[in-house]
Amino acid sequence: MKITFINPGLPKNGVVVVGVLDGRKLTDSAKALDKIMSGGLVRAIKACRFKGDKTSSLPLLAPGGTGFTRILLVGMGKAKSIDAKAMQDIGGDIYTALSTKGHATVQVMVDAIDKCTMKPDQMAAEMALGARLSSYRFDKYKTKEKPENKPSLKTLKISCAGATRARNAFAPMDKVASGVFMTRDLVSEPANILYPETLAKQARTLTKLGVKVEVLGEAQMRKLGMGALLGVGQGSVRESRMVVMQWNGKRGKAKSDAPVAFVGKGVTFDTGGISIKPSAGMEDMKWDMGGSGVVIGLMKALAGRKANVNVVGVIGLVENMPSGAAQRPGDIVTSMSGQTIEVLNTDAEGRLVLADALWYTKERFKPKFMIDLATLTGAIIICLGNEKAGLFSNDDKLSGQLSEAGEAVGESVWRMPMGDNYDKMLDCDAADMKNISGGRGAGSITAAQFLKRFVDKTPWAHLDIAGVTWSAKASSTIPKGGTAFGVRLLDRLVADHYEK
Ligand code: BES
Ligand code: MN
Ligand code: ZN
Repeated sequence: MKITFINPGLPKNGVVVVGVLDGRKLTDSAKALDKIMSGGLVRAIKACRFKGDKTSSLPLLAPGGTGFTRILLVGMGKAKSIDAKAMQDIGGDIYTALSTKGHATVQVMVDAIDKCTMKPDQMAAEMALGARLSSYRFDKYKTKEKPENKPSLKTLKISCAGATRARNAFAPMDKVASGVFMTRDLVSEPANILYPETLAKQARTLTKLGVKVEVLGEAQMRKLGMGALLGVGQGSVRESRMVVMQWNGKRGKAKSDAPVAFVGKGVTFDTGGISIKPSAGMEDMKWDMGGSGVVIGLMKALAGRKANVNVVGVIGLVENMPSGAAQRPGDIVTSMSGQTIEVLNTDAEGRLVLADALWYTKERFKPKFMIDLATLTGAIIICLGNEKAGLFSNDDKLSGQLSEAGEAVGESVWRMPMGDNYDKMLDCDAADMKNISGGRGAGSITAAQFLKRFVDKTPWAHLDIAGVTWSAKASSTIPKGGTAFGVRLLDRLVADHYEK
Protein backbone atom coordinates (compact mmCIF):
# COMPACT_ATOMS: atom_id res chain seq x y z
CA MET A 1 0.00 0.00 0.00
CA LYS A 2 1.21 3.44 -0.92
CA ILE A 3 0.66 6.25 1.60
CA THR A 4 0.70 9.85 0.37
CA PHE A 5 0.17 13.17 2.10
CA ILE A 6 -1.76 15.90 0.30
CA ASN A 7 -2.88 19.39 1.18
CA PRO A 8 -6.36 20.02 2.64
CA GLY A 9 -9.31 19.79 0.28
CA LEU A 10 -12.33 17.48 0.13
CA PRO A 11 -12.51 15.25 -2.93
CA LYS A 12 -15.72 15.20 -4.97
CA ASN A 13 -16.01 11.47 -5.38
CA GLY A 14 -14.49 8.13 -4.40
CA VAL A 15 -14.07 7.05 -0.80
CA VAL A 16 -13.55 9.63 1.91
CA VAL A 17 -12.98 9.26 5.65
CA VAL A 18 -13.84 12.01 8.12
CA GLY A 19 -13.60 12.19 11.89
CA VAL A 20 -16.34 12.63 14.47
CA LEU A 21 -15.47 13.47 18.05
CA ASP A 22 -17.07 12.15 21.20
CA GLY A 23 -20.63 13.43 21.66
CA ARG A 24 -21.34 13.42 17.89
CA LYS A 25 -19.18 16.51 17.42
CA LEU A 26 -18.25 16.92 13.75
CA THR A 27 -14.74 17.80 12.56
CA ASP A 28 -14.47 20.57 9.97
CA SER A 29 -14.39 18.10 7.07
CA ALA A 30 -17.41 16.26 8.44
CA LYS A 31 -19.24 19.59 8.65
CA ALA A 32 -18.33 20.39 5.04
CA LEU A 33 -19.61 16.98 3.92
CA ASP A 34 -22.83 17.42 5.87
CA LYS A 35 -23.38 20.65 3.99
CA ILE A 36 -22.86 18.97 0.61
CA MET A 37 -25.34 16.32 1.74
CA SER A 38 -27.89 18.93 2.90
CA GLY A 39 -27.72 17.67 6.47
CA GLY A 40 -27.73 13.98 5.51
CA LEU A 41 -24.59 13.19 7.46
CA VAL A 42 -26.01 14.45 10.74
CA ARG A 43 -29.31 12.65 10.03
CA ALA A 44 -27.38 9.40 9.48
CA ILE A 45 -25.57 9.80 12.80
CA LYS A 46 -28.81 10.50 14.61
CA ALA A 47 -30.42 7.43 13.05
CA CYS A 48 -28.06 5.08 14.92
CA ARG A 49 -25.99 4.72 18.05
CA PHE A 50 -22.74 6.06 16.58
CA LYS A 51 -21.53 8.75 19.00
CA GLY A 52 -17.95 9.28 17.90
CA ASP A 53 -16.37 6.99 20.50
CA LYS A 54 -12.85 5.85 19.75
CA THR A 55 -12.84 2.51 17.85
CA SER A 56 -16.37 3.05 16.52
CA SER A 57 -17.22 3.93 12.92
CA LEU A 58 -20.20 4.41 10.62
CA PRO A 59 -20.13 3.71 6.87
CA LEU A 60 -22.47 5.59 4.48
CA LEU A 61 -22.66 3.93 1.08
CA ALA A 62 -23.14 6.01 -2.09
CA PRO A 63 -25.10 8.82 -0.46
CA GLY A 64 -27.52 10.43 -2.95
CA GLY A 65 -26.74 13.88 -4.29
CA THR A 66 -22.97 13.28 -3.94
CA GLY A 67 -20.36 11.56 -6.10
CA PHE A 68 -18.97 9.47 -3.23
CA THR A 69 -18.99 5.68 -3.33
CA ARG A 70 -18.47 5.54 0.41
CA ILE A 71 -18.12 7.90 3.31
CA LEU A 72 -16.64 6.47 6.49
CA LEU A 73 -17.23 8.36 9.71
CA VAL A 74 -14.60 7.40 12.28
CA GLY A 75 -14.96 8.00 15.98
CA MET A 76 -12.01 9.86 17.50
CA GLY A 77 -13.13 9.97 21.12
CA LYS A 78 -12.49 13.03 23.28
CA ALA A 79 -10.30 15.79 21.81
CA LYS A 80 -8.20 15.86 24.99
CA SER A 81 -7.31 12.18 24.83
CA ILE A 82 -6.02 12.22 21.25
CA ASP A 83 -2.34 11.29 21.34
CA ALA A 84 0.13 9.45 19.10
CA LYS A 85 -1.12 6.02 20.15
CA ALA A 86 -4.75 7.01 19.62
CA MET A 87 -3.99 8.28 16.12
CA GLN A 88 -2.10 5.07 15.28
CA ASP A 89 -5.09 3.02 16.44
CA ILE A 90 -7.44 5.16 14.35
CA GLY A 91 -5.18 4.69 11.31
CA GLY A 92 -5.14 0.93 11.89
CA ASP A 93 -8.91 0.77 12.31
CA ILE A 94 -9.44 2.75 9.08
CA TYR A 95 -7.21 0.31 7.21
CA THR A 96 -9.09 -2.68 8.63
CA ALA A 97 -12.48 -1.14 7.87
CA LEU A 98 -11.66 -0.34 4.23
CA SER A 99 -8.84 -2.55 2.95
CA THR A 100 -10.99 -5.41 1.60
CA LYS A 101 -14.06 -3.48 0.45
CA GLY A 102 -13.05 -3.29 -3.20
CA HIS A 103 -11.74 0.29 -3.16
CA ALA A 104 -8.27 0.94 -4.58
CA THR A 105 -7.94 4.49 -3.25
CA VAL A 106 -9.13 6.07 -0.02
CA GLN A 107 -8.74 9.65 1.13
CA VAL A 108 -8.65 10.47 4.84
CA MET A 109 -9.30 14.02 6.03
CA VAL A 110 -7.25 15.07 9.08
CA ASP A 111 -8.49 18.33 10.56
CA ALA A 112 -7.20 20.64 13.26
CA ILE A 113 -9.12 19.89 16.44
CA ASP A 114 -9.98 22.27 19.25
CA LYS A 115 -8.39 21.39 22.64
CA CYS A 116 -6.21 18.73 21.01
CA THR A 117 -2.47 18.93 21.73
CA MET A 118 -1.47 17.45 18.36
CA LYS A 119 -1.16 19.39 15.11
CA PRO A 120 -2.80 17.98 11.96
CA ASP A 121 0.55 17.02 10.40
CA GLN A 122 1.59 15.07 13.52
CA MET A 123 -1.80 13.41 13.67
CA ALA A 124 -1.53 12.50 9.98
CA ALA A 125 1.95 10.95 10.37
CA GLU A 126 0.91 8.82 13.37
CA MET A 127 -2.26 7.77 11.57
CA ALA A 128 -0.16 6.71 8.58
CA LEU A 129 2.07 4.62 10.85
CA GLY A 130 -0.96 2.87 12.34
CA ALA A 131 -2.40 2.13 8.90
CA ARG A 132 0.96 0.81 7.71
CA LEU A 133 1.40 -1.43 10.78
CA SER A 134 -2.07 -2.92 10.44
CA SER A 135 -1.55 -3.65 6.73
CA TYR A 136 0.92 -6.47 7.50
CA ARG A 137 0.03 -9.88 6.10
CA PHE A 138 1.89 -13.19 6.05
CA ASP A 139 0.21 -14.94 3.15
CA LYS A 140 3.07 -16.30 1.06
CA TYR A 141 1.98 -19.91 1.62
CA LYS A 142 -1.71 -19.31 0.86
CA THR A 143 -2.07 -20.26 -2.78
CA LYS A 144 -5.85 -20.51 -2.96
CA GLU A 145 -7.10 -17.28 -1.43
CA LYS A 146 -10.15 -15.81 -3.18
CA PRO A 147 -9.50 -12.42 -4.80
CA GLU A 148 -12.37 -10.85 -2.81
CA ASN A 149 -10.60 -11.73 0.44
CA LYS A 150 -7.38 -10.05 -0.59
CA PRO A 151 -6.80 -6.38 0.19
CA SER A 152 -7.98 -4.07 -2.60
CA LEU A 153 -6.60 -0.89 -1.08
CA LYS A 154 -3.55 0.34 -3.00
CA THR A 155 -3.29 4.03 -2.12
CA LEU A 156 -4.09 5.78 1.14
CA LYS A 157 -4.16 9.56 0.72
CA ILE A 158 -4.01 11.59 3.90
CA SER A 159 -5.13 15.17 3.56
CA CYS A 160 -3.93 17.66 6.17
CA ALA A 161 -2.49 21.13 6.73
CA GLY A 162 1.31 20.86 6.57
CA ALA A 163 1.39 17.82 4.25
CA THR A 164 5.14 18.23 3.66
CA ARG A 165 5.85 18.20 7.38
CA ALA A 166 3.67 15.11 7.75
CA ARG A 167 5.56 13.38 4.91
CA ASN A 168 8.91 14.18 6.53
CA ALA A 169 7.75 13.01 9.95
CA PHE A 170 6.43 9.76 8.51
CA ALA A 171 9.61 8.84 6.57
CA PRO A 172 11.60 7.48 9.57
CA MET A 173 8.46 5.91 11.05
CA ASP A 174 8.02 4.01 7.81
CA LYS A 175 11.56 2.63 8.17
CA VAL A 176 10.69 1.41 11.65
CA ALA A 177 7.57 -0.23 10.23
CA SER A 178 9.80 -2.04 7.69
CA GLY A 179 11.83 -3.37 10.61
CA VAL A 180 8.62 -4.50 12.31
CA PHE A 181 7.54 -6.27 9.13
CA MET A 182 10.83 -8.09 8.81
CA THR A 183 10.55 -9.33 12.39
CA ARG A 184 6.95 -10.45 11.81
CA ASP A 185 8.05 -12.31 8.66
CA LEU A 186 10.86 -14.10 10.49
CA VAL A 187 8.67 -15.07 13.43
CA SER A 188 5.95 -16.40 11.10
CA GLU A 189 8.20 -18.65 9.01
CA PRO A 190 8.04 -22.33 9.92
CA ALA A 191 11.11 -24.12 11.23
CA ASN A 192 11.60 -26.28 8.13
CA ILE A 193 12.29 -23.06 6.22
CA LEU A 194 13.92 -20.93 8.90
CA TYR A 195 16.77 -22.59 10.79
CA PRO A 196 20.09 -21.19 12.00
CA GLU A 197 21.77 -21.09 8.62
CA THR A 198 18.80 -19.55 6.77
CA LEU A 199 18.04 -17.12 9.60
CA ALA A 200 21.66 -15.96 9.44
CA LYS A 201 21.20 -15.50 5.70
CA GLN A 202 18.22 -13.23 6.39
CA ALA A 203 20.36 -11.17 8.76
CA ARG A 204 22.95 -10.84 6.00
CA THR A 205 20.43 -8.98 3.82
CA LEU A 206 20.94 -5.96 6.13
CA THR A 207 24.35 -5.49 4.52
CA LYS A 208 22.68 -3.44 1.79
CA LEU A 209 21.57 -0.91 4.42
CA GLY A 210 25.15 -0.45 5.60
CA VAL A 211 25.05 -2.93 8.48
CA LYS A 212 28.22 -4.96 8.96
CA VAL A 213 27.21 -8.60 9.34
CA GLU A 214 29.44 -11.47 10.53
CA VAL A 215 28.30 -15.06 10.86
CA LEU A 216 30.18 -17.42 13.20
CA GLY A 217 29.98 -21.14 12.49
CA GLU A 218 30.32 -24.02 14.93
CA ALA A 219 34.09 -24.34 14.53
CA GLN A 220 34.62 -20.67 15.42
CA MET A 221 32.25 -20.90 18.36
CA ARG A 222 34.03 -24.00 19.62
CA LYS A 223 37.33 -22.13 19.45
CA LEU A 224 35.79 -19.32 21.51
CA GLY A 225 34.65 -21.87 24.08
CA MET A 226 30.91 -21.46 23.66
CA GLY A 227 30.08 -24.83 25.17
CA ALA A 228 26.71 -23.71 26.57
CA LEU A 229 25.29 -22.63 23.21
CA LEU A 230 26.83 -25.52 21.27
CA GLY A 231 25.43 -28.08 23.71
CA VAL A 232 21.89 -26.95 22.90
CA GLY A 233 22.40 -27.30 19.16
CA GLN A 234 24.26 -30.60 19.17
CA GLY A 235 21.16 -32.77 18.77
CA SER A 236 20.07 -31.10 15.55
CA VAL A 237 21.18 -31.86 11.99
CA ARG A 238 21.08 -28.08 11.48
CA GLU A 239 24.34 -26.40 12.44
CA SER A 240 24.29 -23.62 15.03
CA ARG A 241 25.29 -20.06 14.18
CA MET A 242 25.97 -16.76 15.87
CA VAL A 243 25.36 -13.53 13.97
CA VAL A 244 27.01 -10.23 14.85
CA MET A 245 25.49 -7.10 13.29
CA GLN A 246 27.00 -3.64 13.62
CA TRP A 247 25.48 -0.30 12.68
CA ASN A 248 28.08 2.41 13.24
CA GLY A 249 25.87 5.40 12.62
CA LYS A 250 27.30 7.81 15.17
CA ARG A 251 28.28 11.12 13.54
CA GLY A 252 30.76 13.80 14.59
CA LYS A 253 33.04 13.76 17.65
CA ALA A 254 31.38 10.71 19.21
CA LYS A 255 31.98 8.62 16.09
CA SER A 256 33.91 5.93 17.95
CA ASP A 257 31.62 5.90 21.00
CA ALA A 258 31.08 2.57 22.74
CA PRO A 259 28.04 0.90 21.20
CA VAL A 260 24.76 -0.08 22.78
CA ALA A 261 24.07 -3.79 22.40
CA PHE A 262 21.02 -5.96 21.80
CA VAL A 263 21.19 -9.71 22.19
CA GLY A 264 18.53 -12.15 21.00
CA LYS A 265 17.55 -15.74 21.73
CA GLY A 266 17.27 -17.53 18.41
CA VAL A 267 16.00 -21.05 19.03
CA THR A 268 14.58 -21.75 15.59
CA PHE A 269 12.61 -24.65 17.03
CA ASP A 270 12.35 -25.75 20.65
CA THR A 271 11.18 -29.32 21.09
CA GLY A 272 12.59 -29.25 24.61
CA GLY A 273 15.31 -31.68 23.55
CA ILE A 274 15.55 -34.90 25.57
CA SER A 275 13.41 -33.18 28.26
CA ILE A 276 10.84 -33.16 25.49
CA LYS A 277 7.75 -30.93 25.52
CA PRO A 278 4.19 -32.29 25.29
CA SER A 279 2.99 -32.41 21.67
CA ALA A 280 -0.07 -30.14 22.12
CA GLY A 281 0.86 -26.65 21.05
CA MET A 282 4.46 -27.53 20.27
CA GLU A 283 4.07 -25.80 16.88
CA ASP A 284 4.28 -22.50 18.78
CA MET A 285 7.95 -23.22 19.32
CA LYS A 286 8.68 -22.11 15.75
CA TRP A 287 8.63 -18.61 17.19
CA ASP A 288 11.15 -19.39 19.92
CA MET A 289 13.55 -17.33 17.80
CA GLY A 290 11.40 -14.23 18.50
CA GLY A 291 14.15 -12.40 20.42
CA SER A 292 16.59 -12.76 17.54
CA GLY A 293 13.86 -11.69 15.12
CA VAL A 294 13.41 -8.49 17.10
CA VAL A 295 17.15 -7.78 17.10
CA ILE A 296 17.30 -8.19 13.30
CA GLY A 297 14.20 -6.01 12.76
CA LEU A 298 15.56 -3.39 15.15
CA MET A 299 18.88 -3.25 13.29
CA LYS A 300 16.92 -2.85 10.06
CA ALA A 301 14.86 -0.01 11.58
CA LEU A 302 17.91 1.83 12.97
CA ALA A 303 19.99 1.47 9.81
CA GLY A 304 16.96 2.25 7.64
CA ARG A 305 16.41 5.59 9.34
CA LYS A 306 20.17 6.18 9.63
CA ALA A 307 20.08 6.46 13.41
CA ASN A 308 22.84 8.55 14.99
CA VAL A 309 24.12 5.74 17.19
CA ASN A 310 26.62 2.90 17.32
CA VAL A 311 24.80 -0.33 17.93
CA VAL A 312 25.57 -4.02 17.84
CA GLY A 313 23.07 -6.84 17.54
CA VAL A 314 24.13 -10.36 18.50
CA ILE A 315 21.94 -13.41 18.05
CA GLY A 316 22.55 -17.00 19.07
CA LEU A 317 20.92 -19.44 16.63
CA VAL A 318 20.27 -23.10 17.45
CA GLU A 319 17.66 -25.77 16.97
CA ASN A 320 16.81 -27.72 20.14
CA MET A 321 16.16 -31.32 19.07
CA PRO A 322 16.23 -34.74 20.71
CA SER A 323 18.43 -37.28 18.94
CA GLY A 324 21.23 -39.72 19.54
CA ALA A 325 23.61 -36.78 19.50
CA ALA A 326 21.52 -34.59 21.80
CA GLN A 327 22.61 -33.22 25.14
CA ARG A 328 21.40 -35.33 28.09
CA PRO A 329 19.96 -34.19 31.42
CA GLY A 330 22.89 -34.13 33.80
CA ASP A 331 25.47 -33.14 31.20
CA ILE A 332 27.91 -30.51 32.40
CA VAL A 333 28.97 -27.87 29.88
CA THR A 334 31.61 -25.14 30.09
CA SER A 335 30.46 -21.71 28.93
CA MET A 336 32.68 -19.13 27.22
CA SER A 337 32.92 -17.32 30.57
CA GLY A 338 34.61 -20.40 32.03
CA GLN A 339 31.67 -21.05 34.35
CA THR A 340 30.35 -24.61 34.27
CA ILE A 341 26.66 -25.50 34.07
CA GLU A 342 24.87 -28.71 34.94
CA VAL A 343 22.06 -29.06 32.41
CA LEU A 344 19.31 -30.62 34.53
CA ASN A 345 16.58 -29.82 32.00
CA THR A 346 17.38 -29.58 28.29
CA ASP A 347 14.20 -27.51 27.80
CA ALA A 348 15.73 -24.62 29.76
CA GLU A 349 17.88 -23.99 26.68
CA GLY A 350 17.38 -20.29 25.95
CA ARG A 351 19.45 -19.23 28.94
CA LEU A 352 22.29 -21.50 27.78
CA VAL A 353 22.33 -19.83 24.37
CA LEU A 354 22.18 -16.36 25.89
CA ALA A 355 24.91 -17.14 28.44
CA ASP A 356 27.48 -17.36 25.65
CA ALA A 357 25.93 -14.62 23.50
CA LEU A 358 25.91 -12.14 26.39
CA TRP A 359 29.45 -12.96 27.52
CA TYR A 360 30.77 -12.69 23.96
CA THR A 361 29.04 -9.32 23.44
CA LYS A 362 30.36 -7.90 26.68
CA GLU A 363 33.94 -9.11 26.10
CA ARG A 364 34.19 -8.02 22.48
CA PHE A 365 32.32 -4.71 22.47
CA LYS A 366 32.37 -3.37 26.06
CA PRO A 367 28.96 -1.85 25.32
CA LYS A 368 27.26 1.02 27.18
CA PHE A 369 24.54 -1.47 28.04
CA MET A 370 23.22 -4.84 26.93
CA ILE A 371 19.54 -5.61 26.49
CA ASP A 372 18.57 -9.17 25.72
CA LEU A 373 15.24 -10.33 24.36
CA ALA A 374 14.04 -13.88 24.73
CA THR A 375 10.94 -16.04 24.67
CA LEU A 376 12.49 -17.46 27.80
CA THR A 377 9.84 -18.82 30.15
CA GLY A 378 6.27 -20.04 30.16
CA ALA A 379 6.16 -18.69 33.72
CA ILE A 380 6.19 -15.06 32.51
CA ILE A 381 2.88 -15.78 30.74
CA ILE A 382 1.47 -16.97 34.07
CA CYS A 383 2.69 -13.69 35.66
CA LEU A 384 1.80 -11.10 33.03
CA GLY A 385 -0.40 -12.83 30.44
CA ASN A 386 -0.15 -11.54 26.89
CA GLU A 387 -0.21 -7.86 27.89
CA LYS A 388 3.28 -6.98 29.08
CA ALA A 389 6.81 -8.27 28.74
CA GLY A 390 8.78 -9.05 31.90
CA LEU A 391 11.66 -6.66 32.56
CA PHE A 392 14.62 -7.74 34.71
CA SER A 393 17.59 -5.47 35.21
CA ASN A 394 20.65 -4.62 37.29
CA ASP A 395 20.27 -0.93 36.43
CA ASP A 396 17.49 1.39 37.62
CA LYS A 397 18.18 4.07 35.01
CA LEU A 398 18.04 1.70 32.05
CA SER A 399 14.94 0.13 33.57
CA GLY A 400 13.20 3.49 33.84
CA GLN A 401 14.08 4.38 30.27
CA LEU A 402 12.70 1.07 29.01
CA SER A 403 9.47 1.42 30.96
CA GLU A 404 8.92 4.92 29.58
CA ALA A 405 9.71 3.96 25.99
CA GLY A 406 7.33 1.02 26.31
CA GLU A 407 4.43 3.19 27.45
CA ALA A 408 5.14 5.70 24.65
CA VAL A 409 4.82 3.11 21.88
CA GLY A 410 2.24 0.81 23.45
CA GLU A 411 4.69 -2.04 24.12
CA SER A 412 4.40 -2.22 27.84
CA VAL A 413 6.97 -3.81 30.16
CA TRP A 414 6.71 -4.64 33.86
CA ARG A 415 9.75 -4.75 36.10
CA MET A 416 10.17 -7.94 38.07
CA PRO A 417 12.32 -8.39 41.20
CA MET A 418 15.76 -9.97 41.38
CA GLY A 419 18.02 -10.71 44.33
CA ASP A 420 20.59 -12.91 46.02
CA ASN A 421 18.07 -15.33 47.46
CA TYR A 422 16.77 -16.05 43.95
CA ASP A 423 20.34 -16.37 42.69
CA LYS A 424 21.10 -19.03 45.29
CA MET A 425 18.38 -21.22 43.83
CA LEU A 426 20.79 -21.96 40.97
CA ASP A 427 23.61 -23.19 43.19
CA CYS A 428 24.66 -26.70 42.30
CA ASP A 429 26.63 -29.57 43.85
CA ALA A 430 28.21 -30.82 40.63
CA ALA A 431 29.07 -27.57 38.79
CA ASP A 432 29.15 -23.78 39.21
CA MET A 433 25.40 -23.63 38.60
CA LYS A 434 22.47 -25.64 37.33
CA ASN A 435 20.20 -24.44 34.54
CA ILE A 436 16.92 -24.78 36.47
CA SER A 437 16.10 -24.02 40.09
CA GLY A 438 14.49 -27.34 40.94
CA GLY A 439 11.61 -25.71 42.82
CA ARG A 440 8.29 -24.76 41.23
CA GLY A 441 8.35 -21.06 42.08
CA ALA A 442 9.78 -17.94 40.44
CA GLY A 443 10.70 -19.60 37.14
CA SER A 444 11.07 -16.35 35.21
CA ILE A 445 13.14 -14.74 37.96
CA THR A 446 15.57 -17.63 38.33
CA ALA A 447 15.99 -17.62 34.52
CA ALA A 448 16.94 -13.93 34.75
CA GLN A 449 19.30 -14.64 37.66
CA PHE A 450 20.99 -17.22 35.46
CA LEU A 451 21.55 -14.64 32.71
CA LYS A 452 22.85 -12.11 35.22
CA ARG A 453 25.78 -14.44 35.95
CA PHE A 454 26.99 -13.75 32.39
CA VAL A 455 26.86 -9.95 32.22
CA ASP A 456 29.38 -8.97 34.92
CA LYS A 457 29.14 -5.24 35.73
CA THR A 458 27.64 -4.18 32.39
CA PRO A 459 24.34 -2.30 32.76
CA TRP A 460 21.90 -4.91 31.53
CA ALA A 461 18.23 -5.56 31.04
CA HIS A 462 16.45 -8.75 30.07
CA LEU A 463 13.04 -8.72 28.38
CA ASP A 464 11.14 -11.98 28.67
CA ILE A 465 8.85 -11.71 25.65
CA ALA A 466 7.32 -15.22 25.74
CA GLY A 467 3.83 -13.79 26.31
CA VAL A 468 3.90 -10.97 23.77
CA THR A 469 5.72 -12.35 20.73
CA TRP A 470 2.69 -14.02 19.18
CA SER A 471 -0.88 -12.79 19.32
CA ALA A 472 -3.99 -14.96 18.96
CA LYS A 473 -6.19 -11.93 18.33
CA ALA A 474 -5.76 -8.82 16.22
CA SER A 475 -5.57 -5.30 17.67
CA SER A 476 -5.76 -1.98 15.82
CA THR A 477 -2.13 -1.98 14.68
CA ILE A 478 -1.17 -5.65 15.13
CA PRO A 479 -2.78 -8.38 13.03
CA LYS A 480 -2.99 -11.90 14.44
CA GLY A 481 0.35 -13.72 14.58
CA GLY A 482 3.85 -12.32 15.08
CA THR A 483 3.73 -8.97 16.85
CA ALA A 484 7.38 -7.82 16.61
CA PHE A 485 7.00 -6.59 20.20
CA GLY A 486 10.29 -4.91 21.09
CA VAL A 487 11.26 -3.34 17.76
CA ARG A 488 9.34 -0.11 18.31
CA LEU A 489 10.14 -0.08 22.03
CA LEU A 490 13.90 -0.32 21.51
CA ASP A 491 13.89 2.03 18.53
CA ARG A 492 12.20 4.55 20.82
CA LEU A 493 14.68 3.92 23.65
CA VAL A 494 17.56 4.63 21.26
CA ALA A 495 15.87 7.69 19.73
CA ASP A 496 15.03 9.24 23.11
CA HIS A 497 18.32 8.64 24.94
CA TYR A 498 21.22 7.48 22.77
CA GLU A 499 21.18 9.62 19.63
CA LYS A 500 22.09 12.93 21.27
N1 BES B 1 10.81 -21.45 24.80
C1 BES B 1 10.40 -21.87 26.09
C2 BES B 1 9.53 -20.84 26.80
C3 BES B 1 8.20 -20.53 26.16
C4 BES B 1 7.06 -21.18 26.59
C5 BES B 1 8.09 -19.56 25.20
C6 BES B 1 5.84 -20.87 26.02
C7 BES B 1 6.87 -19.25 24.63
C8 BES B 1 5.74 -19.89 25.04
C9 BES B 1 11.63 -22.15 26.96
O1 BES B 1 12.75 -22.60 26.30
C10 BES B 1 11.24 -23.19 27.93
O2 BES B 1 10.98 -24.30 27.52
N2 BES B 1 11.21 -22.84 29.21
C11 BES B 1 10.84 -23.75 30.23
C12 BES B 1 11.81 -23.60 31.36
C13 BES B 1 11.73 -24.68 32.41
C14 BES B 1 12.18 -26.00 31.84
C15 BES B 1 12.59 -24.30 33.59
C16 BES B 1 9.42 -23.40 30.68
O3 BES B 1 9.06 -22.23 30.69
O4 BES B 1 8.67 -24.33 30.97
MN1 MN C 1 12.72 -24.72 26.08
ZN1 ZN D 1 12.91 -22.11 24.32
